[in-house]
Parts: sequence; C-alpha cells; structure tokens
Amino acid sequence: MRRPFIAGNWKMHKTTVEALELADGLKAALADVESMDLAVCPPASALGVVSDVLAGSNIMVGAQNMHWENSGAYTGEISPVMVRGLATCVIIGHSERREYFGETDATVNKKLKAALAHDLVPIVCIGESLEQNEAGETVSFVGGQIRGAFEGIPAVDAQRVVLAYEPIWAIGTGRTAMPEDADRTIREAIRDVLRDLYDNPTAEAIRVQYGGSVKPDNMADFIVMPEIDGALVGGASLKVEDFAGIVKNAAAALQK
Ligand code: 13P
Repeated sequence: MRRPFIAGNWKMHKTTVEALELADGLKAALADVESMDLAVCPPASALGVVSDVLAGSNIMVGAQNMHWENSGAYTGEISPVMVRGLATCVIIGHSERREYFGETDATVNKKLKAALAHDLVPIVCIGESLEQNEAGETVSFVGGQIRGAFEGIPAVDAQRVVLAYEPIWAIGTGRTAMPEDADRTIREAIRDVLRDLYDNPTAEAIRVQYGGSVKPDNMADFIVMPEIDGALVGGASLKVEDFAGIVKNAAAALQK
C-alpha cells in the first residue's frame, strides 16, 4: 500500500510574514490528520520561518528547487546541503522551471541524484503540453521524462522518489484532466516505464501525485483512482481553508 501524500506548492507567493501565518493556520487545521503524508513548499525566502513553525508537526516542509552541487559560484541558487537544514522534501523539474528557467531532463536527473544523496524526499514533476496531448504524444513524452529523470538511479533509491504528474494545460487554468485519463497516463507513461526500467515492486512502490487545478471539490475524484496517490496543489494551497479542505476530502474519500 502506498501512503497518500498531499503537498502544497506555494510557488512565488507569500512574504515571510504571510508564510508564517499560513503555516500556523495549517498546523492547527491539519493536526489530526494521520492517514497521509503532508507537505508545504514555500518560497526559499520563507523556508526558515515555515520550518520553525512546523517543527514537530505532521506537515513536512519542502523547497521548490535547488542546485545539484553542495556549494559553489552559482549566484541565486541554493544547494542540497542548505535545503537539508530547512526542509525534508524538494520539488524538482516543475514545468514552470522547465519552461522559464531552462530545466531539462538532464538537470532534473542531476538534481534528483543530489536530493537522494542528501536524504531529501524528491517530488519530480512531469507532464505534457496541450499540443502534445492533442497530438496523442502524452505517453511517449511523459515516458521519456521518466527515463531521463531516473537515468543511472538504482532501484533502492528510485523507491524513495515521489512523482507529480502535472499536465501543463491543467496548471492554473481551472481545467483538470479527467481523473480516468490521468489514471491511465500514470499507468501507461509512468508505471509501465518504471516496470521496464526496474521491476514490478519498484514500479508499484513509487508514489504518484496528480497536479493541475486540484481544489477541495475535485480532490476526492482523483484520490480514489488506483494509480493516484495524492496531489501537488498550487493555487488552492495558499489558503488554510482550501488546502485543509483538500486534505480532509481526500481522507474522507479514502475511508469510504
Ligand atoms: P494549480 O493547482 O494552481 O493548478 O498548480 C498546480 C501546480 O503547478 C502544482 O505544482
């Protein structure tokens, strides 16, 4: 059984004061959730305050990005060692980083190896564009992203990776994938490829979140899908009531 995992990606939102307030609210609102893993990923500027607020709570803290080197002349970057002092998770290869900041499957692979070496929980994002989706290229494209991300990573480490399948056309648009379509893509483009790269136990152990316009009222439809193990939430992770609603609705749907 894969333990469900819901994470909030705050993107470039929240000053340190606002982040502290949101983290405080979530800590109280979600204190009784035991059936799943939870994380919030504030901007780097707020990692310190949020990790202080959430220390000892049931909510993990994640970074949204990091470099793969431990230190060096890389202006503006933060390293795995720095992240490790403040967070337990790290998002790698979000489509916004691939689109605006030149991330490639090769840099994702380097960052993933660094995250695993530093015992961080990596959340690796993959997903196709609208054009690729409409051209019927989803499975080959996402499958290629998986092969690129996991290049040279042994099965024992691969099992610690969390994937977030985020169709780019569903991010911030209010338009979600159909849960059945997302489920099929995860099966064909992710689990089948992982089975080919590794073996059945490894493919079945890796958790896959869905991301793209997840809200309190659609979370249940995704979480009940056999291949979907949680969510990576953008916009709806910025308000206590929305993120708490997502988590509670997921927990309730899984209990049925
Ligand atoms: P939205 O939930 O705002 O669509 O963002 C999804 C996302 O990109 C999470 O990483």
